[in-house]
Amino acid sequence: MHLIRMIYASKISSRFTGEEDIESILANSRDNNQVINISGILCYSNDYFLQCLEGSRINVNQLYHKILLDDRHYDPAILKYDEIVERDFAEWGMAYLPPSKITGTLVSKYSGDRKFNPYSMSGDSCYAMLKEMALFNIVKQ
Ligand SMILES: Cc1cc2nc3c(=O)[nH]c(=O)nc-3n(C[C@H](O)[C@H](O)[C@H](O)COP(=O)(O)O)c2cc1C
Repeated sequence: MHLIRMIYASKISSRFTGEEDIESILANSRDNNQVINISGILCYSNDYFLQCLEGSRINVNQLYHKILLDDRHYDPAILKYDEIVERDFAEWGMAYLPPSKITGTLVSKYSGDRKFNPYSMSGDSCYAMLKEMALFNIVKQ
């Protein structure tokens, strides 16, 4: 079994309602990800999603392809994909960072801009930013 971590970004579509949809995405993630042993973290801000998925290669790929079918986002781009020896977000079926926690100060530490735009960031920067934000800012799972 190969353990992998994938980080992708996508754009929020007009179908996305904000916190109401986040509640249902997190509820689905809680139910489904536990069964297939996927952990990770999800955030959104400034009309972009950024999500990290960790688990077996086959399960992460299958879940990613399922998530791509969701019309609440579009233009997905894989920013980072690695085989790993251990998980970073093992405690969370899907940790969540709300937009209020994606501060300009933290974003500018990892990108050239204070505005959150994962498409303009390297995969390594996105990964480092998620890890730092996760240290203090996860509010629910
Ligand atoms: C940005 C984004 C991230 C998502 N992440 C997950 C996830 O980690 N796990 C999950 O089961 N569904 C996730 N979803 C929801 C799925 O697209 C889908 O709606 C859900 O899995 C359907 O659940 P069901 O098969 O139990 O009905 C995500 C959706 C979006 C838009």
